[in-house]
Amino acid sequence: MKNFTSVHDLVPPPGGTLSDAIDRLVQQALAHKANPLSSRTTGSNKRIGCLFLNPSMRTRLSTQIAAQNLGMEAIVFNVGSEGWALEFEEEAIMSGTSVEHVKDAAPVFGKYFDILAIRTFPSLKNREDDYSELYIKQFIKYAGIPVLSLESATLHPLQSLTDIITITESLQQQTLTKRPKIVLSWAPHVKPLPQCVANSFAQWVTAWGKADFVITHPEDYELSEAFTKGATITHNQEEALKDADFVYVKNWSTYTDYGKIYESDPKWMLTNKKLELTKNAKVMHCLPVRRNVELSDEILDGPNSIVTREAGNRVWAAQAVLEELLKNNG
Ligand code: CP
Repeated sequence: MKNFTSVHDLVPPPGGTLSDAIDRLVQQALAHKANPLSSRTTGSNKRIGCLFLNPSMRTRLSTQIAAQNLGMEAIVFNVGSEGWALEFEEEAIMSGTSVEHVKDAAPVFGKYFDILAIRTFPSLKNREDDYSELYIKQFIKYAGIPVLSLESATLHPLQSLTDIITITESLQQQTLTKRPKIVLSWAPHVKPLPQCVANSFAQWVTAWGKADFVITHPEDYELSEAFTKGATITHNQEEALKDADFVYVKNWSTYTDYGKIYESDPKWMLTNKKLELTKNAKVMHCLPVRRNVELSDEILDGPNSIVTREAGNRVWAAQAVLEELLKNNG
């Protein structure tokens, strides 16, 4: 693995599939969870730069902890609030607000660090621009070192790997008689949010291929087919929830008429009553969550919620990915 920006950066083992590669990374992560310091020297004398153009709590802390567990030094730089405003467009005439071109800044990061980790968000104004993933692509082009996505304009791969780890771990603790059913359920929100987590979750679950996968959302909230191919999609939430083993709750803004909120019907919020339709499903959310808007107190504080375990697993996902990047770019 040279970079980690989507599930497609994973390299299948000889004769194996992408699903095998996901399982291998999941097992690597669970081994780190069982023994966090077993690879304490893998990152000795190596340094990771964690660049944040946007806020973060879990991604920021879990990546630093993972790096430290591998013996790496982690330096966090809040580019968005503390650095020079970066320009990403090629051949830009920089007479506006941007001060430094990524073409000049990224190679400097390449001199300072062994791995570069970046969090950016989409503008939600221009779909073509956001879905071109210009920011992360420009860092890959000019940094000259492995690039790790801490969430980009359209994807959040560390979150999705964490989610598969959490589902795998949960499945190891129960006996199912058939393939698990996973439901990605849209939830209301007060402001337009990116499609990243939903896109990424769909991309990873379909690539994994070990579950019946259903996406439910109101009309006009279709995600890009590039990520949802292979999933069953329905506007009927109750039908979707029937017999589910896992319900992944997430809001996203519209993709087609880009970045809008059409609908914020509180009826889409998951409640204990709706959970009765499921097979006592575990409830997941990437956090942060707006209580009693996206998810009810009764669910978040109840026995079916595994959101805290899920957030805890962010460390092991980051540790497995960093270990792979270090091994393959030694
Ligand atoms: N889930 C997630 O990425 O959380 P943060 O935004 O706090 O990093």
